[in-house]
Amino acid sequence: MGLFSACVNCSEEVEDKKSRTAPIPTLTPEAQLETTHKSLRLGDTVPNFSAETTNGNIDFHTYKEGKWAILFSHPEDFTPVCTTELGAVAKLSNEWEKRDTKVIGLSCNTLESHERWIADINETQNADVKFPIIADANRKVAQLFDMLDFQDETNVDKKGMPLTVRSVFIIAPNNIIRLIITYPASCGRNFDEVLRVLDSLQLGDKHKIATPVNWKNGDDVIIPPSIKNEEADKLFPGYKVIKPYLRTVNVGVLEH
Ligand code: BEZ
Repeated sequence: MGLFSACVNCSEEVEDKKSRTAPIPTLTPEAQLETTHKSLRLGDTVPNFSAETTNGNIDFHTYKEGKWAILFSHPEDFTPVCTTELGAVAKLSNEWEKRDTKVIGLSCNTLESHERWIADINETQNADVKFPIIADANRKVAQLFDMLDFQDETNVDKKGMPLTVRSVFIIAPNNIIRLIITYPASCGRNFDEVLRVLDSLQLGDKHKIATPVNWKNGDDVIIPPSIKNEEADKLFPGYKVIKPYLRTVNVGVLEH
């Protein structure tokens, strides 16, 4: 949608205040300049940035160092839904590790605020937050990744500046963006689902397969249409043909 859209009741053009290309009046002039960047899409190289985090200053590309990464934003420190989410991400630390994946959070608060909040997360969620959280009080990174909230007028800080929505980016070792999901501030994410997509992407990259609805690690996988039967015979011996376009194979076959 552009800056203007048709009004359905009066057929006049009205300003669309929620357009992503419209300047955000409450942002600093420096941050406003960055509102004109293009949206990130699957297949784009993830932009690099430097940031202050709870684990020290980082250069994002250097921090990733050829690993998978999950960059995710949450609206604000000391908020209930975010507290449960960050506890859940911390408790999945072994799962991220097994998948050679670094996770990094972000909200538009200061480092000092993040540090005080981590103590609360650990206490209330029985967690041990070790992953870094970006302190993006000036919204530089949030702007770069189009994470600011344009729909929820209550998702603003004390000065009325927009906070972030619940964005998730999965980024491959070659820095290509492979998944983008956006949840509203009011709904906590399902990080088991993020883990499930990560499994699907990693298995798909290794074995040229796709995964069906509600797939979980260990379930049968799908042979994509780009693989002709001749190649499938070699790659996936014993695969099932349900319809010529719907072919499945047991994951056990992939390991041999
Ligand atoms: C929360 O994390 O609890 C939250 C943040 C912003 C809006 C609604 C809920």
